[in-house]
Amino acid sequence: MEREKFSSRLGFILISAGCAIGLGNVWRFPYITGKYGGAAFVLIYLVFLVILGLPVIVMEFAVGRASQRSVALSFDELEPRGTKWHWFKYPAMAGNYLLMMFYTTIGGWMAYYVIKMVKGDFSGMDVSAVEGEFGAMLGNPALMTALMAAVVILGFVICAGGLQKGVEKITKVMMISLLVLMVALTINSILLEGGQEGLAFYLKPDFGKLVEAGLGEAIFAALGQAFFTLSIGMGAIAIFGSYIDRERRLTGEAVNVLVLDTIVALMAGLIIFPACFAYNIQPDSGPNLLFITLPNVFNAMPGGRIWGTLFFVFMFFAAISTIVAVFQDLISFATDLTGCSVKKAALLNCLVIIVLSVPCVLGFNLWSGFTPLGAGTGVLDLEDFLVSNNILPLGSLVYVAFCTSRYGWGWEKFLGEANTGKGISFPSGVRFYIKWILPAIMLFIFLQGYYAKFFS
Ligand code: PHE
Repeated sequence: MEREKFSSRLGFILISAGCAIGLGNVWRFPYITGKYGGAAFVLIYLVFLVILGLPVIVMEFAVGRASQRSVALSFDELEPRGTKWHWFKYPAMAGNYLLMMFYTTIGGWMAYYVIKMVKGDFSGMDVSAVEGEFGAMLGNPALMTALMAAVVILGFVICAGGLQKGVEKITKVMMISLLVLMVALTINSILLEGGQEGLAFYLKPDFGKLVEAGLGEAIFAALGQAFFTLSIGMGAIAIFGSYIDRERRLTGEAVNVLVLDTIVALMAGLIIFPACFAYNIQPDSGPNLLFITLPNVFNAMPGGRIWGTLFFVFMFFAAISTIVAVFQDLISFATDLTGCSVKKAALLNCLVIIVLSVPCVLGFNLWSGFTPLGAGTGVLDLEDFLVSNNILPLGSLVYVAFCTSRYGWGWEKFLGEANTGKGISFPSGVRFYIKWILPAIMLFIFLQGYYAKFFS
């Protein structure tokens, strides 16, 4: 059976960007940047995006397009006979599930905050009352489960509509709205009086601060963030390569996705940091940054209820577009492996994801005594750490090895696929770099990161 394709190139780019642009850009990037001291961290992150991330997205797209399959079968399709590359499907599929196991919870928070902003629930509250609201939500497992389940159901309903009529149609609208909202929010934020200090914090590198936060750990975090934001290392974005024809070379498409993704992350910082500084609110509060810090900012801002609503709608679109993209992956694992229908795969996965997402919810209340990565951490941090700092970088290494080694798919075949069509070609002179230096950099950062995190 011919695989269903996207209806347009724009659809492909916006959906790949929708997969890449998500909580990683609008929630994780700002708080990690706040934690590691601002611009110096951003600089390292940007370098990693280009020298490590870009080649890997091209490889994922190439593997997806050449195999016409999701990661559940792409390696079976392309590997030389008798090799075991296809075993990678297990950690890759597990990674996609693990990601959704915490992502949907935060997606639920975003939905809740949109509602609260519309209703004006935070109006007139002081800082501790806002904190109390967030705490009350975290302490209420039934509420959080309901929010999470609503988001999961919404995501699968969109996917059950099919690739063109569901995923493509809805994601396109969401992504375009997201970009428009972002521009309005950024302009509003940088015009705030007193926001300049926030711009300096965000844009002027201070390497002293980076060293203070722990250079080794910061570099490891930048690596994790670069892979997380691009969605690379577990076949999540590869699938979209399987839905396009061979008209365009893949490097240009990867550059488009990377540029859109980076713009959104940087703009999210431009929205958040000036606003924090304008109202004297510290931007280093970690994962709670958006949920405790920002409502205070909007309370202080003229027209804050409207801006706050737009802000959380923007966040919600980012989250749900990624959720839809990854659900599309989960559904295609099922349809690739068992040949079942999309609707059946959607229904089944919907139930599975709701159940699997419960531990993350409980980690904030009933199971809060479980602190796997040190005081203050929970199930979410563990799941995020497993995906972002382990599966994604190591999985990216698998893609690199597969595309460069003659025991895998091999360089010539990879290059042939990447360079089929019109557009920028993948530079063939970088083979040595990609085969040896890129993995060496990654392994080094990975090992020292573990050391810095757990032993120093
Ligand atoms: N890139 C997504 C984000 O920034 C997260 C993601 C990671 C999605 C890995 C798929 C795979 O939110």
